Amino acid sequence: MFDPRSSRRSFLRGTAAAVGAVALPALLSPRELAALEPRSARWLAGMDAEATARNAGGPVILARNENPYGMNPKAKLAFDGAFSYHNRYNSPLAAELRKRFAAKNGVPEDHVLLTQGSREVLATSVAAFGSNGKEVITPWPSYEEVGRYGDVMGLTVHRIPQTDALEMDLKAMDAKIGAATGLVFLCNPQNPTGTLLGGDTMRDFIRATTPRAMVLVDEAYHEYANDPSYRSMIELVKAGDNVIIARTASKIHGMAGVRIGFAIAKPALLAKIGGYQMGQVNPLACAAVSASLDDPSYTTYCAEQNAIGRQYTTDALRKMGLRVITSHANFVYFDAKRPTVDVRKAFETAGFLVGRAFPNYPNWVRVSIGTPDEMKAFVAALPQALRV
Ligand SMILES: Cc1ncc(COP(=O)(O)O)c(C=O)c1O
Repeated sequence: MFDPRSSRRSFLRGTAAAVGAVALPALLSPRELAALEPRSARWLAGMDAEATARNAGGPVILARNENPYGMNPKAKLAFDGAFSYHNRYNSPLAAELRKRFAAKNGVPEDHVLLTQGSREVLATSVAAFGSNGKEVITPWPSYEEVGRYGDVMGLTVHRIPQTDALEMDLKAMDAKIGAATGLVFLCNPQNPTGTLLGGDTMRDFIRATTPRAMVLVDEAYHEYANDPSYRSMIELVKAGDNVIIARTASKIHGMAGVRIGFAIAKPALLAKIGGYQMGQVNPLACAAVSASLDDPSYTTYCAEQNAIGRQYTTDALRKMGLRVITSHANFVYFDAKRPTVDVRKAFETAGFLVGRAFPNYPNWVRVSIGTPDEMKAFVAALPQALRV
C-alpha cells in the first residue's frame, strides 16, 4: 500500500541522489568506488567473462557494431542516481553532459548539441541542408541512413561508389558537387568497410568543399581509430569552418540503446539542425554518458580489447587466403567469395549473427568485434561456415 511517510523519505533520498548526480563522483560511496577501481587486474579479468556471459543465450550478435562490454559500471550507477528526473522534461544533467563533452573536445559549450543518438544529427542535417531543391552526396556503401533520409524526404541522393581500396572516392564526390548540392556526407572511419582517410586528406577535401556545400562528417568510430594519420575534423570546427561533426555514445561507451549523440559545429549551424530535433534528450542517459566521459580508463579498455580482437580476426581470415580490409573500427569487412546472404545463413546456423549485405559488395561480410571468447568461437566456426 502507498505509504506517504516512506514516499516522503524516498523523495528526500531521491533529491539527494539527484543533486549528487550532477556532481557524479558523489554518487558513489568510497566502498563502491574501490569495488570499481578501474584498471585493477581483477576487475579487468572479470570484464570479458562477464560480457560473454551477459551476451549468451541466443546467437552471438556480431552484426551491428555494438560494444560487447556494455556501459561502464559507474555509468550504470549514475543512471540509477539520476532516476528522480525520470518524470521531468528538463534537468541539469543535459547541460552537465554538454559541458563535459565540450571540455573534453576543446570546444565552447555552444558548439555542442545533444541528440537522440548520432542518427539524429544525420537526419536533421539532411533536413536542414538537403531540402528545398538541394541534393545530397554520400559515399556508397556507407552508413545508409543519410541516403535513406534523403530518399524519404524526396531529395536527389547521389551515391558515389568507393575506390578499389574500398575508401571514399573523394575525387568522384568532388566531381559531383554542383549548384544544387546541399550536403556532402563523409564517414571516417567508414562503415561497413572500416577504412579511414588521413587527417590532411580530410581537411583538404572539406576546405575545398565548404564554399560550395555543407559538409557532415560522421565520426561514430572515432575512438577505435589508432592510425597515426587519423584526426577528428573537430579541428575544423575550432578553426571556424562550415562543417558539422557527428559523434555518439553508442559505440565506445557501450550505450547503443541509451540514445545519446552529439553534433559539433558553429552555433548558427546547430541552431539550423536543432530546429528539426524531436525534443529533449533523456536525463538518465545524460547522467550515464557523463559518468563514462569521467572515466576514460573504461573506454580505453574497450578500445584496446577491440584492437586485439580485430587483429586476431583479421589474421585468421587472411590465413584462410581471404581479402580483408584493414579496419580502423569495431568490425572487420572481408570478401567471403560466396554470396553474403548464404554466408550469413551459414553463420546463423553456427550460432553467430553477422552483418547484413551491403550494396556493391554481394560477397562481402561485415563481422563486429565481440569479446575475445566470442571471437575465438567465431574463428573456430569459419571453415565450416565458409566451406573452405
Ligand atoms: C557510421 C555510423 N553512424 C551512426 C550510427 C548510428 O549511431 P547512433 O546509435 O548514435 O544513432 C552508426 C550505427 O551503426 C554508424 O555505423
